[in-house]
Order: sequence, then structure tokens, then C-alpha cells
Amino acid sequence: MNIVAISGSLRKESFNTRLLHSLQSLAPAGMTITPFDISALPLYDQDAEASFPAAAQALKDAIAAADGIVIATPEYNRSISGALKNAIDWASRPYGQNSFAGKPVLTMGVSIGKLGTALAQSHLKQIMVYLNARVIGQPELHFGPAHELFDGSGTLVDQAARELLGKALSVLAERIA
Ligand SMILES: Cc1cc2nc3c(=O)[nH]c(=O)nc-3n(C[C@H](O)[C@H](O)[C@H](O)COP(=O)(O)O)c2cc1C
Repeated sequence: MNIVAISGSLRKESFNTRLLHSLQSLAPAGMTITPFDISALPLYDQDAEASFPAAAQALKDAIAAADGIVIATPEYNRSISGALKNAIDWASRPYGQNSFAGKPVLTMGVSIGKLGTALAQSHLKQIMVYLNARVIGQPELHFGPAHELFDGSGTLVDQAARELLGKALSVLAERIA
């Protein structure tokens, strides 16, 4: 199983990107999780679809080749980040070639607050349902406060979070099989 993993945060020390990097060690046998960096994507512009940008095409190709998708979103002002929405908009185009259709999608997120991206993920799941992705509803993966979950070197050390993530990846594997 080939999984593409997208972080909605562009910052170097991102907790969400760290969350994604912890996944491979928690994944069931036969699952390979490959991060896709969305920072090179230009701002979505419908005029630019005529000569589809290489970075956007690379995202579409990665999703097309994947059996499933994991998205870790930060919560910005109670929604997903602009960078993540931009990536989703590119991958949903051109009209009729929405890359998410039929793909199993597992969402997760970590925030510095106790709600742990619950509201951002609610928006993200709505978008994914609209795009006809096969969204996994349970388990919900809302993590926070972030500073209690990672050690100084950025390793996810919270045991409950690790167990829940392992369980969620098994659900993703079942959804693919
Ligand atoms: C523009 C902006 C808006 C934010 N809004 C929220 C919010 O609505 N809820 C929340 O829990 N945290 C919010 N935060 C704090 C983020 O949880 C925190 O910056 C987190 O570290 C972002 O994820 P990252 O570490 O992956 O970059 C916001 C941060 C920024 C920069």
C-alpha cells in the first residue's frame, strides 16, 4: 500500500509535519507512507490551468499513484490552512479530473490548543466528501496541546497518540484492501 502524506503547514518546525513523519513507524506491514511537500505550489489561478504548473501536476501524479491519502492539517482561525486549501484546489482540477475521487482519505491534526484541530478537520472532511473521497470517520485524530506530545527532538512520544495513530492506519489499510 502506497500512501501519500500531505502536511498543511509550511513551517520548518511544524508539529503537523512531525506527526506525519512519525507515521511510518506506526504503520501496518506493507504500508509505505511518503510525504509530499506542498510548499512549491503556486497560488491557484484558473488561468494557469491552460499550462498546468509542474508542481501541481506532480501532486496530482502522486495522488493518482497512491492507494490512500493522509492529510495532517493545522488549525488556522478555526479552519484549514490556506496552503492546504490551495493544494486541494489544484489537485481537484482540471474540471472532471478531480484527483481525490474514490481515494481513501485519513485526516489528522495537531494544534497548540486543546481542541486539537477538531474544527479545521470538520471543514477538511466536508471538502473531501464534496470531492467524492472515501473519508474515514473514525477514529478521530485531534491532538493537542502539541507541546505535551513531542519531545525536544520532535519525536512523537505520547503513547496514547501513537496507539491511536497505529489503529487509524490499520483502518486505512482495511479501507484500501
Ligand atoms: C494564522 C494562525 C491561526 C491560528 N488559529 C488557530 C485556531 O483557530 N485554533 C488553534 O487551535 N490554533 C490556532 N493557531 C495555532 C496553531 O495551532 C499553531 O500555530 C500550530 O503550531 C500550527 O501547526 P504547525 O505546528 O503544524 O505549524 C493558529 C496559528 C496561526 C499562525
